[in-house]
Amino acid sequence: MNQLITELGILEEETQQTGVKTTSTTSTGQTRKLYIESYGCQMNFSDSEIVASILAKEGFDTTSNIAEADLIFLNTCSIREKAEQTVRHRLMHINGFKKQKPELLVGILGCMAERLKIKLLEEEKIVDLVAGPDAYRDLPKLITQVDNGHKAVNTFLSREETYGDLTPVRLNSNGVTAFISIMRGCDNMCSFCVVPFTRGRERSRDPHSVLNEAKELISKGFKEVTLLGQNVDSYKWSEEENNKAWINKKGINQVVNFANLLEMVAQLSPELRIRFSTSHPKDITDDVLHVMAAYNNICNYVHLPVQSGSSRILEMMNRGYSREWYLNKIDSIKRILGNECGLSSDMIIGFPGETEEEHQQTLSLMDVVQYDFSYMFYYSERPGTLAAKNYKDDVPLEVKKRRLDEVIKKQNAYSLISNKRDIGKTFEVLVEGSSKRSADFLQGRNSANKVVIFAAENYTKGEYVNVLIENCTGGTLLGKAVK
Ligand code: SAH
Ligand code: SF4
Ligand code: F3S
Repeated sequence: MNQLITELGILEEETQQTGVKTTSTTSTGQTRKLYIESYGCQMNFSDSEIVASILAKEGFDTTSNIAEADLIFLNTCSIREKAEQTVRHRLMHINGFKKQKPELLVGILGCMAERLKIKLLEEEKIVDLVAGPDAYRDLPKLITQVDNGHKAVNTFLSREETYGDLTPVRLNSNGVTAFISIMRGCDNMCSFCVVPFTRGRERSRDPHSVLNEAKELISKGFKEVTLLGQNVDSYKWSEEENNKAWINKKGINQVVNFANLLEMVAQLSPELRIRFSTSHPKDITDDVLHVMAAYNNICNYVHLPVQSGSSRILEMMNRGYSREWYLNKIDSIKRILGNECGLSSDMIIGFPGETEEEHQQTLSLMDVVQYDFSYMFYYSERPGTLAAKNYKDDVPLEVKKRRLDEVIKKQNAYSLISNKRDIGKTFEVLVEGSSKRSADFLQGRNSANKVVIFAAENYTKGEYVNVLIENCTGGTLLGKAVK
């Protein structure tokens, strides 16, 4: 995931927010076949695994061959206009084969389903079924409705749903790394962001179910879990909020915050690596950083999206912190976790009213922090958001693109510097599989989340291997295994 993500298509590889993944095949001899394509963030990919789990009980196998599907689901993203356009093009294409196979059922899930509700079904007539992120338990009923000749929609957002009791069917799994969703929704209302509207109110998942899912993954041989949420630092489980207590080992009814949950997962097995995403600069606590420092198996890496280097723009974005506050957090990370801690960011370029000087402040913040990598986007106005209501999208597209290009060039330069600094160092790498280019090489990541490639020799997937770094590109470290 350390490729730089851009909307200029400079480096459009697998992406965190615009990636597409299709289903792997599960074959249990069931009669109907589900093909599911996921767009957007990791939470959507994780949700597709919940959908596959719900439908497996209803007689659906998954398939990676769209031609043999009886049911096609697109699990969609609304974060930027371009993400929605991609899905629209895909739906047009799929409607092409629906003409040859009229019994094919096409459904839209996820954030775009939630945002557009019945529009794609009733006005544009390009889907048969619409289900928002909190409506997946209703899918069997919705499918039956379509089977009986009716259109089916559920975009109800819940205050409680976490799918905590369901065991995801791992799709596209490498058998080594997996994601565990620990919370849903977001209460932050960053002014540019559609997520609070598409995913609803924030709610945390029962710590028991998180720990059980992690234990099950360990028993299946998984070696790394990433705890997922839009803002993991506001994870909170308490009797007051959830009508259910967490009784700790000493028999005391305890509030479980993110630092506590992270520590409990880390204690499950020293062989299990733990990552988490995403942290919010206003909410990440020193307690979280101290837990990270105390456990070797919690990866030394923080993704801390800054969005802008200008305090005025941050205020308009409703991010809840200033440039100075953010830089103080970076100082705390370096103080508690050391200079080796991997750091990455998200940046929005060309927010309404962004002046040339404010853009320079984003560039100068990058000079101060020197991220190992970043996800960079130009501002895309999203209907219904606070920014769309209050601010005119007035930075011309050419200016947005030019500024984004400057930010990307700076990031590329720092990524290369950061990787060159690693030449001569030895890292413990968890092997995730063969390198994309050649089966003679293996690929994995070090604790700081950098991709490392080395000659396979006799090493295999799932092993921890010490690798001496000998060379690099801006996106990858290259090395050889050492004893
Ligand atoms: N919860 C995470 C981010 C989720 S969205 C967080 O708070 O950091 C992922 C990223 O998409 C955001 O960090 C932001 O950089 C980008 N993004 C969100 N809305 C956007 C918009 N309207 N235009 C451009 N980029 C946007
Ligand atoms: Fe969106 Fe802000 Fe919530 Fe992230 S924290 S999902 S950017 S509203
Ligand atoms: Fe996209 Fe929804 Fe995730 S808008 S980024 S899929 S929460």
